Amino acid sequence: MKETVRILLSESKTEERIAQLAAQIDRDYAGRSVHLICILKGSIFFTCALAKRITVPVTMDFMSVSSYGSGTSSSGVVRLIKDLDEPIEGKDVIVIEDIIDSGRTLSYLLQNLQDRKPASLRLCTLLDKPERRVAEVKVDYTGFAIPDEFVVGYGLDYAQKYRNLPFIGVLSLEDDGAQEGGDSQQ
Ligand code: IMP
Ligand code: MG
Repeated sequence: MKETVRILLSESKTEERIAQLAAQIDRDYAGRSVHLICILKGSIFFTCALAKRITVPVTMDFMSVSSYGSGTSSSGVVRLIKDLDEPIEGKDVIVIEDIIDSGRTLSYLLQNLQDRKPASLRLCTLLDKPERRVAEVKVDYTGFAIPDEFVVGYGLDYAQKYRNLPFIGVLSLEDDGAQEGGDSQQ
């Protein structure tokens, strides 16, 4: 496959929006602290950028899940690769996601986390593709709603590539006869 990336959201536009989300979280959690759960690996850039701009006290933990499927879609079969280090019981938790597509990964994860009895549980995603939703998920903070296109950069990958791009871009694949597929890590 020949791969090309075109810029959808520039670094400055992305970071301006992240600063707005942080300000909103500051207002909503005034006088409290927040426990951010970063869903590895895709959310790492977003989590860092957001956490740096939040001014209420922040603690952080990390979780890694993988969904079986092709390079560009999730199947809904979610496997826990790395669990949280700390319990979340009694904490005000915000799950930080890179992108919500079908919603299958998040609907599994949110149920799993809710069972651990946090004081509150909210969801913050950098990107949302609402047209693609299969499983219903309540999103509390959204960076950008985007059209149904496969995006990379700012943590998001295609076959583990492009995570380090400082902007969010649309990936185009031009078929040259080669085949790809397998397990996709978040
Ligand atoms: P869902 O379970 O279909 O909502 O898929 C969510 C996960 O699929 C995300 O956390 C990403 O890892 C991956 N994903 C979905 N859409 C994209 C995309 O456009 N680019 C890169 N990864 C994506
Ligand atoms: Mg991924």
